[in-house]
Amino acid sequence: MKPLGLPLIFLLAVGVLGVDRNNFKTCDQSGFCKRLRPFKPEKSQYTLNLDTVIVHGNVLSAEVTTANTEAEKKVPLWKYSLTLSALVDGTFRIQVDEADPIYPRYRTQLALDGEPKADGLQLVSKEGGKVTLTNTQGHKVLITAEPLKFEFLDQNGDVAVVINENSQLLIEPLRLKREKNDEDEENAENAVEVEEEGTWGENFKSHHDSKPRGNEAVSLDVSFPDADQIYGIPEHTDKFALRTTTSGEPYRLYNLDVFEYELDSRMAIYGAVPVLYAHGSKRTVGVFWHNSAETWVDVVNYADGTVVSSLVNLVTGGHKRRVDARFISESGIVDVFVMLGNKPADVFRQYTKLTGVTPLPPKFSLAYHQSRWNYVDEADVRGVDENFDVHDIPADVIWLDIEYTDRKKYFTWDSEKFRHPAEMVANLTAKGRRLVVIIDPHIKREAGYFLHEDATEQGLYVKDKDGNIYEGWCWPGSSSYLDFFNPAASKYYSERYRFENFPGTSKDVHIWNDMNEPSVFNGPEITMPKDCRHYKPPQDGQDGLASYWEHRHIHNEYGLWQIRATNEGMLERADHKYRPFILTRSTFAGTQRYAAVWTGDNAAEWGFLQASVPMCLSLAAAGVSFCGSDVGGFFKYPEPELMTRWYQAGAYQAFFRAHSHIETKRREPWLYEPSTTALLRDAVRRRYALLDFWYTLFYEHTLDGTPVTRPYFQEYPNEEETYTIDDQYLLGDKLLVRPVLEAGAKSVKVYLPGRDTNTLWYDVDSYQMHKANGYFNQEVNIAKIPVYQRGGSVVPRRERVRRSSTLMANDPFTLVVALDANNTAQGSLYIDDGETYEYKNNKYIYAKISYEPKQMTYTLVNPSAQFSSRAWIERIVIAGIRAAPRTARLHHGGRSTALQMTLHRGNDVLVIRKPGAPVSEDWSIQFAE
Ligand SMILES: *[C@@H]1O[C@H](CO)[C@@H](O)[C@H](O)[C@H]1NC(C)=O
Ligand SMILES: *[C@@H]1O[C@H](CO)[C@@H](O)[C@H](O)[C@H]1NC(C)=O
Repeated sequence: MKPLGLPLIFLLAVGVLGVDRNNFKTCDQSGFCKRLRPFKPEKSQYTLNLDTVIVHGNVLSAEVTTANTEAEKKVPLWKYSLTLSALVDGTFRIQVDEADPIYPRYRTQLALDGEPKADGLQLVSKEGGKVTLTNTQGHKVLITAEPLKFEFLDQNGDVAVVINENSQLLIEPLRLKREKNDEDEENAENAVEVEEEGTWGENFKSHHDSKPRGNEAVSLDVSFPDADQIYGIPEHTDKFALRTTTSGEPYRLYNLDVFEYELDSRMAIYGAVPVLYAHGSKRTVGVFWHNSAETWVDVVNYADGTVVSSLVNLVTGGHKRRVDARFISESGIVDVFVMLGNKPADVFRQYTKLTGVTPLPPKFSLAYHQSRWNYVDEADVRGVDENFDVHDIPADVIWLDIEYTDRKKYFTWDSEKFRHPAEMVANLTAKGRRLVVIIDPHIKREAGYFLHEDATEQGLYVKDKDGNIYEGWCWPGSSSYLDFFNPAASKYYSERYRFENFPGTSKDVHIWNDMNEPSVFNGPEITMPKDCRHYKPPQDGQDGLASYWEHRHIHNEYGLWQIRATNEGMLERADHKYRPFILTRSTFAGTQRYAAVWTGDNAAEWGFLQASVPMCLSLAAAGVSFCGSDVGGFFKYPEPELMTRWYQAGAYQAFFRAHSHIETKRREPWLYEPSTTALLRDAVRRRYALLDFWYTLFYEHTLDGTPVTRPYFQEYPNEEETYTIDDQYLLGDKLLVRPVLEAGAKSVKVYLPGRDTNTLWYDVDSYQMHKANGYFNQEVNIAKIPVYQRGGSVVPRRERVRRSSTLMANDPFTLVVALDANNTAQGSLYIDDGETYEYKNNKYIYAKISYEPKQMTYTLVNPSAQFSSRAWIERIVIAGIRAAPRTARLHHGGRSTALQMTLHRGNDVLVIRKPGAPVSEDWSIQFAE
């Protein structure tokens, strides 16, 4: 094993350019994908046994059987149990499992944020071979018994989602491996006939997968009538709107450490979130395929011109609008959630109701982060920290990559280079800054390393196929991997984060969990072999294959178990008082409950800057709003123009961190020419000016579960031109961002949505007003970041430059009011202490701000707020004013004060100077002609 690892390390170190596709499987090289992808029977072999249907509470349960016809020998006679449950908020769940498996099939454990809440389910009828059901919201489900099919009807009675329309429901029943000697010759021959090659073992390159359970794949097709586009299933580098896969590879979901991953690709990379959304002008719906095994997804969009027209006509009856998708997973059960929308914001919310929202992040984590592999010692950290002040660039966090450790042993410090970690951290926190350090899930196998010795003695490691401790190769060399499925391992790991167990850390040291796909340099596809064993709680009488899970079952959720344990540890180390910040690379459904995500090891190329926008849009739609890419690119060196454009783009993406590879030239902002440094400084300052806006958006995400970073169609669902736009996006419903993503750009095409509703957009730099009318050309110089504020919105800003966000706590606000065609605007502002959970005890301020032609009001949503702030309103800018008022008076606390106003631009921007209104109390301003 080890000799194999060495050349790979070498390759990684020298940085051979471009992905090595040979390291990763195609569908044809993945046994179950090759086996199931061609499976397209004319008619489903599954039949609902109508006599067995029972509706109890919110659940229909019934038996499903397969016919054993000559034509379809692939599906043997077998019994399955079906449940269909109605859940709150227009969601249904279908589960199909073997009625009597020889041992339990794996059910994904951590994706859901608790047990989904039940809605009422009523049996409407059971006749003519069909069962009709309805939930309390008036959605209907029609189940056809033979061949089995599920149709979900929207509240208008139109078919919105169909399951098994294409008869691709398939569950490979578990079978016992027959040993040749156990059977007489005749039976043995039969067995060989049924069992295809590869059933009990597969090879990929030099790796053998022993497949002790044999074939156990599942598959399901879903059709979306009337859909124009489908989205979701991150993480890929492809477009946001998914493309037809018939003439190429399916989209693959398998968390992998892909070295120098390629662009415009459906290859699997670090994350796998199996949720799909289908959108058209009629409705938006979604499906969540609840499965953590390797998964492939095929897509056919009948309107995209790649499907032969005779087939399009046959399937869609000529009106073309329909998208089909199909999931194929290596193991597990069929477990699918159908979310009936019917607007984009509804499906996004429905998905986060199932898998959870991103909890309110600590405020500093929305500010600027400075990272590099590596800041080499304490003096380096101090130098970087000081240079931000020297160059007047705000920064909140300095990051340490793997080299801070004692030779890659996590929870230790290099005792030469980092001799005074506590003092180093204290020096940062004195300026309101924080430290983030990396902790990976691979553990160095070294005698005397407490973590390795404890994990070995206490049995906390993942086991290999024979039940011995699994050894792989990663940064420290020979490594083993904690088995977080074992509660003792998760607990042990959580406890390592205690301050006394990780000396030098404090509540101001936060955590980066990397390499958690997991990455194994000498493993198949650079990850853990699928036949490795994970802990399963012991149950009476379960032994052999029933006594553990294989890595194949859980692969895509491995990283989620790690960050969950990290989160627990960070909460406990500070008595649940402070909000943890965690960054993860591996991503699965539910990841957003614990961590922010970045798009992994990109490169300093324009293509990767461009890809960061659709990649984060896709993750945000899948619940992960807290997303960003390595600003500047990880590999290679960004020339000044690319670096500038990346900072400008990053300033408007949720997670804003510069990071770079150990072998690239240093590139902290002050290392460029002063003119470039000035542009980088400006981009970072723009971020800080909008920090309270970002913070408010994240707070509101916790209330409604919709993405912070939004595709245009979320807010303008009927505007068809927006459906495929993925180089520009919205922040909340207020700001529109079209970062410059092209080299040498003199102008960019900006799409302004909202034509039908007379929407106005204001350039945030000039307050120039544009009427929404699709694309227009925005001229750009190198300093320009095209950002527009929607008419009808109020955005809070703080303009004073500080060294870090913490030091801005009492700074005054500017409110920018952009008027709509009716001269009105609305906005909100959320403020709290930025780092504790005291906001759950009403210690926060959440205010709604409203502007009407005669008055502006600031009203606390929580009038009994226990939080007060010394911050005040120093300026109100009202853009798009048509008839300027003559007088303005502030009413607050029983007093009334006359305010000073000035007009700017073409007399359409009114500035109220020093209104001096507080943020902790209600106030209003009355305007008079
Ligand atoms: C902390 O700051 C002080 C004062 O600038 C400096 O002398 C000391 O070396 C710093 N300590 C570390 C560990 O960086
Ligand atoms: C203006 O107000 C009218 C009447 O309330 C409303 O129908 C219309 O949508 C509003 N227009 C805008 C741009 O908000």
